[in-house]
Amino acid sequence: MSHAMAPAPGSTTIDVKLKIWRYSAATGERELADYEVEAPDWVTLLDVLDLIKDKVDGTLAYRKSCRMMICGSCGMRMDGAAVLACKTRMWDIVQAGHVPVISAMGNLPIVKDLVVDMEPFWSKMRAMKPWLQPGYTEPPDGKEYLHSQEEMNVIHKEALCINCGCCVSECNSMESDPEFLGPAALAKGMRFVGDPRERAQVERLEEYNSEHGIWDCTRCYFCTERCPKGVDPRDAIAKLGAESVKEGIDRDMGAKHAKWFVHSAKTTGWLRETELVPKTQGIVSSIKEMKFAMGLAVKGKVPPPFPPHVAEDVKQSRALYDLVKEQGRDGAAGIVQGERALAHINLFEEPDAAPASLLGPEVTPGETPPHGEG
Ligand code: SF4
Ligand code: SF4
Ligand code: FES
Repeated sequence: MSHAMAPAPGSTTIDVKLKIWRYSAATGERELADYEVEAPDWVTLLDVLDLIKDKVDGTLAYRKSCRMMICGSCGMRMDGAAVLACKTRMWDIVQAGHVPVISAMGNLPIVKDLVVDMEPFWSKMRAMKPWLQPGYTEPPDGKEYLHSQEEMNVIHKEALCINCGCCVSECNSMESDPEFLGPAALAKGMRFVGDPRERAQVERLEEYNSEHGIWDCTRCYFCTERCPKGVDPRDAIAKLGAESVKEGIDRDMGAKHAKWFVHSAKTTGWLRETELVPKTQGIVSSIKEMKFAMGLAVKGKVPPPFPPHVAEDVKQSRALYDLVKEQGRDGAAGIVQGERALAHINLFEEPDAAPASLLGPEVTPGETPPHGEG
């Protein structure tokens, strides 16, 4: 797809077409409505909604406040994927001849049009106790508490959250289990677990390891993909898991699974999946799975567990394990996968950059009704 070079801001106008899912919780009526407005070339999706509300239909409902990607009010879906309306420029979309479908965020009840009820979001945030424990204490001698940049780097990304709900909108696990704490709340949890001033890390980790907690994440990475601020909630959840194992909180099958993978890679250089079920689920569950396992074995899909196959280059995996131990990379310090999320943050737009996150292959045009209706 080619993208025309954006003109100097304000030098021309564009015709912007949108399809918007209108919905009223009061009446249950819904409609995919077409809109078209003339707009300056620099407009964002939020500017276009403002123009529609001012000039075409004053009953259109959506949220906004800061218009500069900091208040978190304007989360909504474009073509089925959550965006901040005030961060989404329309120029390339219009040049591509695309008519985006706008709808309310997912996984939250719709009140009207693009406005969702954020109470489920806030109740999970409150459950995370988003304050330092034991609370504020006067520093000794009236001085400040000082912390190094290195200490604060652990929670640098998590502290960028603006509570917009875009991650929650796209969370696979929340779709099947609305009680799942979810990416935004768990990222907030990591923000406090990783804070060097916090004194209740273990109590927090115990809570986050409960039912509907960190191990219910399916690792789909949609939260990280859609977060407009580079918070990388999936990375935060991985850090919480690693901190839990470090503190010996490993009762959940997810933790046992992770520990077994490390042990397996260290001892034989590969993942011995045949031993995974007994090591993580216990003997009783393993016996229940025996018929299924025998079926796989008959079809040649399961390698025999004994003698365990040892990879030719097993020394490399052992050396890697020893290096991680030597460097003290236990817990959150060992999670390095999230740096790519920071690269997602476009502080300055390239003039001819394609809005890949909107028009790329991950987007399914959203002409099906948004969730939660009827
Ligand atoms: S990675 Fe986990 S928390 Fe993030 S969207 Fe997927 S299931 Fe939800
Ligand atoms: S983690 Fe990102 S997407 Fe989720 S609420 Fe915070 S800023 Fe929004
Ligand atoms: S209006 Fe504040 S983040 Fe978009």
